[in-house]
Amino acid sequence: MPKLPLLPARTRPARPGEGSGALDPIEAATEAGLTVVDWLDERTALSPGIRWLLFRKVPRGINWAYTLGSATLFAFLSQAVTGVFLAMYYRPSINSAYESIRNINDNVFLGQFVHGMHKWGASVMIALIFLHMARVFFFGAYKYPRELTWVIGVVLLILTLAMGFTGYLLPFDQRSYWATIVGVNINGTGPFIGPYLSDFLRGGPDWGATTLSRFYSIHMLLIPGLMAALIGFHLYLVTKLGISAAPWLNATEPEEVVEVVEV
Ligand code: HEM
Repeated sequence: MPKLPLLPARTRPARPGEGSGALDPIEAATEAGLTVVDWLDERTALSPGIRWLLFRKVPRGINWAYTLGSATLFAFLSQAVTGVFLAMYYRPSINSAYESIRNINDNVFLGQFVHGMHKWGASVMIALIFLHMARVFFFGAYKYPRELTWVIGVVLLILTLAMGFTGYLLPFDQRSYWATIVGVNINGTGPFIGPYLSDFLRGGPDWGATTLSRFYSIHMLLIPGLMAALIGFHLYLVTKLGISAAPWLNATEPEEVVEVVEV
């Protein structure tokens, strides 16, 4: 059998003053990586946007309190990831919901750990969102021009609480069942929309299969989708307006006053 010719090593044209021009593996990998980034950027033109989002100037004197928004964001992402794994095993029907949670805890690999992260993560996220809101409030960061950032934050707070409420029913044990009945009945006493909201959540006049599947779909599709969109808008505003300076930094006089002359 004739011998096949050896394929030549990957080469690039030698630069002036260089030897053979053959790439060593590290160099080749680095260059390949850059090529992938360049390839993507040429087609999407995303890099200026990413640079705009990530490389920003922040005011002098910022401290750990300014990380609470990012911590809340991390808690949200952690809830999303652990929730996806739980959804692989959870069955939203009144006859099997409770059993499916027991199965996750007892039989699924790392099931109890992931379930625990999701359950405790919910409380952690609520604590973090309140701390973040308190930082924004006490630093006066809600004032002009950040009012809309604050209003979207309030909607995010309500949605986070609604996540906690709808998630509470899902294990479908005695505690979650009765707590949800109490919660929905309290909703029903609200003015104007209260009774309609209760009917909507219950999924009809009686408690049952529709209630559970409705809570499940609100918990894992409707609210997270809304939250992801609103967090995106919240972060867009944070980036566009910049982070507010700490209130104890004295405002300095402008060095030079430029007179505007109308022509
Ligand atoms: C899922 C919930 C939330 C996420 C993921 C989130 C995320 C963030 C992040 C990452 C920042 C920039 C860093 C920082 O200042 O900590 C920020 C800033 C801000 N957030 Fe939130 N936030 C959430 C909820 C809220 C809530 C409940 C409010 C108020 C009601 C709020 C109001 C604001 C305001 C006004 C700013 C601008 C602060 C400044 O410029 O100094 N956010 N948020």
